[in-house]
Amino acid sequence: MPEPKIVVVNDAAELFVHAAEEIAHVAGEAICTHGEFTFCLSGGSTPASTYELLATRFLNSVDWKEVRFYWGDERCVPPEHPESNYAMANRTILSKLAIKPEQVFRMRGELPPQEGALDYEKQLKASFGLGDGEFPRFDLILLGLGDNRHTASLFPGDPAIHEARRSVVAVDVDAEPRNRLSFTAPVLNNAERVMFLAAGQKKAEAVRDIIDGPRDPDRFPAQIVAPENGAVTWFLDRAAASLLKPR
Ligand code: 6PG
Repeated sequence: MPEPKIVVVNDAAELFVHAAEEIAHVAGEAICTHGEFTFCLSGGSTPASTYELLATRFLNSVDWKEVRFYWGDERCVPPEHPESNYAMANRTILSKLAIKPEQVFRMRGELPPQEGALDYEKQLKASFGLGDGEFPRFDLILLGLGDNRHTASLFPGDPAIHEARRSVVAVDVDAEPRNRLSFTAPVLNNAERVMFLAAGQKKAEAVRDIIDGPRDPDRFPAQIVAPENGAVTWFLDRAAASLLKPR
């Protein structure tokens, strides 16, 4: 995999704008080249402002009717639950776009976890027209980084980090809500582009470990993201990048 690109901007506000700008650019490129943009959203709090900017300042920069929305992970809660990644995306962007329900492929967190994982694998298979053993190739997967070095819902020490057959797994993590659904490395590493967003001093040690630390995906799960035929870009503010080696 080519070296990840690292973009450092002054502060979180600038990071959110820069990320929205890049997403709009990637969306335009994808729609121009193959008529649609398969966009995999991240959860957590960091992307919320970027989603809001996409639905406001960048509303007319993307042909939203050609976008298909997915999630890289979800908490096993109902879609209206405050902890739901879908609920956050619906509040910040989806509810503000003139899109059709069939453009949104929601992880069904309300199902029993194992059923939810199988259900999403079926949704991926149908919407990407996958054969057995094939993995979807997303135009863009957005990822965050947890202070404990997790990404999606692949947490340190979880055997799911090394899952090579399934596309979506149900995991029990050391954070509330414990039960979650997560993409696996084969899906993350099949993406055309992956964008990590991380902001704030609290993320600095995790960013340093993932980018400059010893290779140890069991301790640093976000290191598992290394697409063979895809580009990884880290969007960081100065604080989150503050412990990186000079480049
Ligand atoms: C989730 C996310 C998770 C998130 C990181 C960072 O479901 O929580 O998918 O991987 O990206 O935990 O979260 P913050 O952006 O809130 O720091």
